Amino acid sequence: MDRVVNFASHKYWGVSDPDRFRALMDEACSLVSGGHFLGDNLFTWGRNNSALDDPSFLTAWQGNLQNDADQAIVWRRYILACAAFHCVQLDGDFVECGVYTGTGIKTVMDYLGGPNFPKTFWGYDTFDTNPVEGHIFAGQEEGFFEKVQQRFADYPKARLIKGFIPDSFAQGCPERVAYLHIDLNNADGELAALEVLFDRVVAGGIVVMDDYEWAGVYRPQKQREDPWFEARGYRVFPLPTGQGLVLKR
Ligand SMILES: C[S@@+](CC[C@H](N)C(=O)[O-])C[C@H]1O[C@@H](n2cnc3c(N)ncnc32)[C@H](O)[C@@H]1O
Repeated sequence: MDRVVNFASHKYWGVSDPDRFRALMDEACSLVSGGHFLGDNLFTWGRNNSALDDPSFLTAWQGNLQNDADQAIVWRRYILACAAFHCVQLDGDFVECGVYTGTGIKTVMDYLGGPNFPKTFWGYDTFDTNPVEGHIFAGQEEGFFEKVQQRFADYPKARLIKGFIPDSFAQGCPERVAYLHIDLNNADGELAALEVLFDRVVAGGIVVMDDYEWAGVYRPQKQREDPWFEARGYRVFPLPTGQGLVLKR
């Protein structure tokens, strides 16, 4: 516990001159006290970097890395892991809306038991296509769903549902939800998911919205989600990671 870890990834978004920015950030890291974190559009220092001090998390996170972005978003992943640690002790299932390759789900399951993860974890996505214009991700083509399913072959509690949210909820949807991660990159889809699922989140359950605190193309999510939550007496915690967190009561 007397060790302070540094973290630096050169994966960020919205930078006009990546080479110059990289050189500047390398220099900035050399000028600050220990415990710096760089990556995923975050630069901070003098932090504990708790994620990197949690051996179970490190194993789960590193065992699931598939690309640079997965590496850079370690702090976001640790928010999910800590939320899951809390929610696994509640009544209700786990849900992720927007699964892509399944790394978000699998990191959480591996943190809390791997194939013995104790809760049913529902994952909803169109998988082979991406309904968000301009957001198609690598690999989203025919056969992609089967590949993601294969990743969970040894995880009997994972239930992946292929289809468009909210229509796909008709294929199966838990009555009680302890953990809800919404990561659809668009406000229409996220609000449609909230309309169905938010009332099913149990008291003490946690909702994490991956892009809530990101601006730019993601800003409509905050703009549309704030009034939706305010109307229900909730205020979203805007996290420095870019996520938004809601504690259900
Ligand atoms: C950013 S990715 C999810 C990443 C994943 N949560 C993780 O942590 O690794 C967003 C996904 O949302 C899916 N998606 C977006 N809108 C959707 C909708 N209305 N119904 C189903 N899937 C949707 C896309 O196909 C894409 O795979």
